[in-house]
Amino acid sequence: MTHFLDIHKTDPDALRSIIDNAQAMKAARNGRPKGTPDDEQPLAGRMVALIFEKPSTRTRISFDVGVRQMGGETMVLSGADMQLGHGETIADTARVLSRYVDLIMIRTFEEATLLEMAEHADVPVINGLTNRTHPCQIMADVMTFEEHRGPITGKKVVWSGDGNNVFASFAHAAGQFGFDLTFTGPETLDPEPAWFDFCAAKGHPLTVQRNPEKAVEGADLVVTDTWVSMHDPQSARERRHNQLRPYQVNEELMRHARPDALFMHCLPAHRDDEATSAVMDGPHSVIFDEAENRLHAQKAIMRHCLGV
Ligand code: CP
Ligand code: NVA
Repeated sequence: MTHFLDIHKTDPDALRSIIDNAQAMKAARNGRPKGTPDDEQPLAGRMVALIFEKPSTRTRISFDVGVRQMGGETMVLSGADMQLGHGETIADTARVLSRYVDLIMIRTFEEATLLEMAEHADVPVINGLTNRTHPCQIMADVMTFEEHRGPITGKKVVWSGDGNNVFASFAHAAGQFGFDLTFTGPETLDPEPAWFDFCAAKGHPLTVQRNPEKAVEGADLVVTDTWVSMHDPQSARERRHNQLRPYQVNEELMRHARPDALFMHCLPAHRDDEATSAVMDGPHSVIFDEAENRLHAQKAIMRHCLGV
């Protein structure tokens, strides 16, 4: 069973092939209308369940459109409307779904839910975000970087802000694709120790630099994300804003990066908190390419999982 649970759990050759296939499938569409099918229909006759226990715009729509372009059908399900939200176990849900559908994508809170789903499903399971990681996003981000700047291997990527789930998948990508990743943010919001261990073991140790201007020196890519994630308590909002304000990505900070540095944000953004509109809409920004590439990267991920 080929699940796509995380970037550090997927073989580097498979990751490379997913990015290359995503680029090829994007090129093959060659600007044709979004609602039209691809020439190849590898998901013809297949049904995909898209389960959401948290809100989503990009993940929901890009998976749904991607499946349809490849000839398959989708069911978009809210966890709260399923028996899953009313006490049925994840394991039983996984076994039942496996009798109906060919592939499951789930966005959930605890990583344990994703892992239990994968353990008990007889069909591939894809991680559409947990509190801990967001691998589909970073596959799209690697694709986006390479589209603009060529191979990401050996480049310098700087994350400014919260050491959260999106950062975690960037750390996994740093180890697997071989780029240098620097974290700049307050100590209280440092990434998990496990991600330091993973990157060190891969020979690309994570760097921590508390001074954001020093951190972005020589950066090929500057990345940030919301200061308060969906799983964070709203009561932490004011404290987090106070702690993270020095790490806002603004034009002054971008001046310390390479002149051709890219800026990324997975979206949704809180404009003029974690990043200013001047940066988000400015010459460094590739945020909407990232959003588009969710579609192409996930199509390649689904083909990888189904072996089609
Ligand atoms: N970036 C991302 O996953 O966006 P959504 O929450 O809208 O799916
Ligand atoms: N870190 C954010 C990412 C949203 C796509 C969250 O988990 O809410």
